[in-house]
Amino acid sequence: MSHDIALRERLIVALDMPTVEEAARLVAQLGDGVTFYKVGLELLFAGGLDFAQHLKSHGKRVFLDMKLLDIGNTVERAVANAADFGVDFLTVHGHDLKTLHAAVVGRANSPLKLLAVTVLTNLSSDDLKQQGSSMSPSDLVLHRARMAREAGFDGVIASGQEAHKIRAAVGPNFLIVTPGIRLEGSAMDDQERVMTPEHAIRSGADHIVVGRPITQADDPRAAALAFLQHIRDAMSLN
Ligand code: C5P
Repeated sequence: MSHDIALRERLIVALDMPTVEEAARLVAQLGDGVTFYKVGLELLFAGGLDFAQHLKSHGKRVFLDMKLLDIGNTVERAVANAADFGVDFLTVHGHDLKTLHAAVVGRANSPLKLLAVTVLTNLSSDDLKQQGSSMSPSDLVLHRARMAREAGFDGVIASGQEAHKIRAAVGPNFLIVTPGIRLEGSAMDDQERVMTPEHAIRSGADHIVVGRPITQADDPRAAALAFLQHIRDAMSLN
């Protein structure tokens, strides 16, 4: 875990909502408690890009979860435009070095941080076999994390269960951003491999991504503050 990230920035709230109006309402409710937001595919198709810029102009940090994958030239140009757009984190599928290198060239000298999606957490060994890979999901995650690091990426998206192995394989100064976070005893929703914020941070995660436990809470602000307290507790034990 990198120690130079402000505590508040370690919590990234996923704005998985159908409309910008709902996202804006939530951001207003969360107020100063939350400084980092993830805008993903659902909101992107409902005005999410403009909303990402609105968040940036109000001093928030923004993670654009685009999960890019295309030929090198297209990835390079898309990343160059995303870098000009001014977001903080951008995801690219980390399947091959050509894509990773193209993204790094596109990013050039901008402060945009590139995160590789290693293996989606909903894919099992059977799904990977179907794709023609004989590697286990966890071996493939490690392989792709090493490749992302070698290509000059800033980090990976990984489940909390993989965070420890990735940290051991790639060392410090490489971001591990972990979704699938739940507090002890709370609803799993459709997530399978969940982890508490304490466990994720102590396994080496730098940031945790939390959606429904905050966005659908009766009191989202109180829920966000509870997550921050759990992160604080985990860091004081590290
Ligand atoms: O609502 P919940 O906390 O489960 O949301 C988790 C967020 O992280 C969602 O935006 C989801 O798309 C994202 N995510 C994930 N698993 C991955 C990659 C991203 O749950 N492997």
